[in-house]
Amino acid sequence: MSVATVKIQDLGKDPQLGYHKYQFGGFKFERDMYFVRVTWPKGTQTIEVDRFLRAMVRDIGWGFFYGWIFFDDVFGTQNHYGTVDLFAGTYSKAHRDAGVDFLETFNSADVREAFETICKNWINEGYDPLRAPMETGSPLGPKTKEADGPLIRGFNPARRMMGLPGDTAPRSDSSGHPINRAFSDLTFDKPDIEAEPGFEDQVYAFNLYDHIARSDVTWNPSFTSITRACICCVTSEEHMLPVIHGNDRNEWFIQLTDEIHWNIQDKNTGSPRGRIVMKSGDVCAMPADIRHQGFSPRRSMLMVLENGTPGLQDRYAKGELEPFPITASRW
Ligand SMILES: [Fe+2]
Repeated sequence: MSVATVKIQDLGKDPQLGYHKYQFGGFKFERDMYFVRVTWPKGTQTIEVDRFLRAMVRDIGWGFFYGWIFFDDVFGTQNHYGTVDLFAGTYSKAHRDAGVDFLETFNSADVREAFETICKNWINEGYDPLRAPMETGSPLGPKTKEADGPLIRGFNPARRMMGLPGDTAPRSDSSGHPINRAFSDLTFDKPDIEAEPGFEDQVYAFNLYDHIARSDVTWNPSFTSITRACICCVTSEEHMLPVIHGNDRNEWFIQLTDEIHWNIQDKNTGSPRGRIVMKSGDVCAMPADIRHQGFSPRRSMLMVLENGTPGLQDRYAKGELEPFPITASRW
């Protein structure tokens, strides 16, 4: 499915602060020293600039991910895999009851271009929204010099098993990235590799913990393996997930180190449904009908597994599949 092309419009520069304002469809975006204001025909939402930018660069980098990305309880995106909804208040009962909710559907490529335009203009040198807050500068204040370099860490596809001749995605342990301060107490043994004669250039192994420990970003995949529809990614997490994720399918978490505290809400209303504290070794299946946000008090490692089967979201939305991977009656 596609919709009419909509391009982001530059509404000019704030003469005092230097940031540009933008219009994209029915939405207006502007920022000041501390806050972003998102305005739609029936309302306005104010979001802290740090939270907004950390959410927006991830929404771009994840390709709008599966389901819903809430920047806060009001504004966000829903991925329809070709088109993307921008919504305000659509999943907030109070906004819907007051009749001030708003939703508009765009082509994914147009949203990506719009979000990249906004981020490029609003991110100053010295601030990297993909890093943990303690490892980057501040996004506050007037515009200084635009950050250069990649706005998002793009995916670097491996042509072969990482570490083998011809591999184009360097392992972190040979990339020059240091072990993050939070993992300095871990030991990183190298695996023993015993290849049969003649197979030395076809067999390799590396320590995954060593790889994740060198990640310079948080809440962003360090490593992803995709086998048909089976998607597995590992990440290092610190501070809070900068978005609230609304699932359109089940999602599995395996806590590899430390702990993450998850707040879980009803996807449509935002009402609290539960709280989970995942400690090292815990496994959890997040249902298909919730939104959730994680809080990692210190840097931790998380493995996330997704089922990327096309059309799965429709089967859950129609109730054809239960929102849980296994129910007790089937045991
Ligand atoms: Fe999720």
